[in-house]
Amino acid sequence: MPESGSNRLETLVSLCKRRGFVYPGSEIYGGLNAIYDFGPLGVRLRRRIRDLWWREMVELRDDVEGIEAAILMNPAVWEASGHLGSFSDPMVDCLGECHQRFRADHLEGDRCPNCGGPLSPPRQFNLMFKTFFGPVEDESAVVYLRPETAQGMFVNFKQVLASTRQRVPFGIAQIGRSFRNEISTGNFIFRLRELEMMEMEWFCSPADDARWFDYWCEQRLSWHRSLGLGAERLRIRPHGEDEKAHYALASSDIEYLFPWGWGELEGIARRGDYDLRRHQEFSGRDLQYVDPLSGEHYLPFVVEPAVGVDRIFLALLLDAYDEEEVRGERRVVLRLRPEVAPFQVAVLPLQRKPPELGELARRVESELRRSFATEYDDTQSIGRRYRRQDEIGTPLAVTIDFGSLEDHAATIRERDSMEQVRVGLDQLGEACRERLGQVGSSAVRGAPDAG
Ligand code: GAP
Repeated sequence: MPESGSNRLETLVSLCKRRGFVYPGSEIYGGLNAIYDFGPLGVRLRRRIRDLWWREMVELRDDVEGIEAAILMNPAVWEASGHLGSFSDPMVDCLGECHQRFRADHLEGDRCPNCGGPLSPPRQFNLMFKTFFGPVEDESAVVYLRPETAQGMFVNFKQVLASTRQRVPFGIAQIGRSFRNEISTGNFIFRLRELEMMEMEWFCSPADDARWFDYWCEQRLSWHRSLGLGAERLRIRPHGEDEKAHYALASSDIEYLFPWGWGELEGIARRGDYDLRRHQEFSGRDLQYVDPLSGEHYLPFVVEPAVGVDRIFLALLLDAYDEEEVRGERRVVLRLRPEVAPFQVAVLPLQRKPPELGELARRVESELRRSFATEYDDTQSIGRRYRRQDEIGTPLAVTIDFGSLEDHAATIRERDSMEQVRVGLDQLGEACRERLGQVGSSAVRGAPDAG
C-alpha cells in the first residue's frame, strides 16, 4: 500500500472506479457532491455486508424482529424525535476570498483552512432534506427524507409487540437508505448525503440498560473483527459530554483507523426512554410496555447499535488492499475474506480454443455456481486474468487447461499464496470449500449463501 494517507485513499478510489465497485454519482453530468453509485462488484460487496449483518442481528437470534419502514414518514415523527429542533451542525462561512462553507466543530483555529480568511459566526444548519408531499408546494406539504432508520422502529414498537410473541428485552432491526444534507463531505464514501444504515433498537428494562449497553458494545466489536478488519485498527471510544446526540444518555463509537486517522464506523447509544416518551407525548398513544409477570407498566429503555453499510464497505476495502512485488512486477491484491469477496471462485479456461476447453470450463463453472459466487472469464491472457481476480479479491481461481480434457482435473490457484494445486474435477467443489474455509473465515458466523 502506498505510504501516505491521501495516496492510499486515491489509489483505492481509482481501483473502485476501474473495476466497478464505486462510481461518482451521475458522473456524465459532472457528478453530485457526496453521492455515489455502486457498480457490479460494489453491489455484491454491499449485499454481503447487509446479509452478514442481518444474519447476525436478526436471523441467528430469537429476540430480534426485522422490519422495513417507509423512507417518508409523517413529519410529526421528526418533531417528536427532536430532529427538527436538534439535528443540526454548526456551520461557518469563509468571509475571505474562497467563500467556502465548513462545519465549525471540524475546524482548528478561527481562520478559513482553505484561504486563511476570517470566518462568520457559527449558525446551526438542519441536516434533513426537505421535499413536498402531493402537488401543492407550501409549508403544510413539507415532508423529510429520513436521516436515520431508527424512528421506524420506535413508531412501530407497539405494532411489533402486538403481532409477535416478543417480550422485553427484545430488538427491532432494519436496513435502509437515509439522507443527511452534510455540510462538509469528503474522504470518498466516508461522509455521504445518501447513505445506507443498519440499525437495531434493543428495548429493555430501565434497570438493565447499562448491562445491555456493555453487551452490545462487545458483540458489535467482535462482529467487525469477524469480517476480517484488523484488530489493531479497531477500537471503542466512549463519547465525551459535548459529543453526545440530543437523544443519548451515553454513547460509544466503534472506530476504525482510516488513512486520515480514527473515524466512526458504528455508534452504540443508550437512548433511554427518550424516543418512546416523546412519541407517546406527541401522538397521544400509550406506548408503555406491560410486564406480563408483574403487571408493571413502563416505557422500556433503548440501546441502539447503528452502523453505515458504506463505512464498512470503505473500511473493508482499505483493510484488504495490499501491494507486493512478484518476480519484479507489482501485484495488487485485495485480501478480502471469502464471506465478503464479490466472487469466491473464478473459472478461467486457459484459452478460447479448442471449443471443448470452453465447454468444459462452462460446465465446471455452472456446477460451482450452485455453491459459490463464481465468475467465468475467457478474455485476455491468463496472467492478466489472474491479476484482475487478485485486484477484485477473488480468493480462488480454477484454471481449465488442455490437460483437463485428458485427466479430468483442474488447477486451483490461491489468491494469497499464489500456490497452485491440481485437483480432480469430481473433487473440485470440496477442494474449493476446504480452501475458502481456511482464508481466515472461521470466526464468521452465518456466512450467506453464494449469490
Ligand atoms: N440512529 C443513530 C444514528 O443515526 P449516527 O451515529 O448518526 O447514529 C450511525 O449514525 C452510523 O451511520 C454511523 O456510525 C456511520 O456508520 C453511519 N453514518 C452516519 N452518517 C453518515 C454519512 N454522512 N455518510 C456515511 N455514513 C454515515
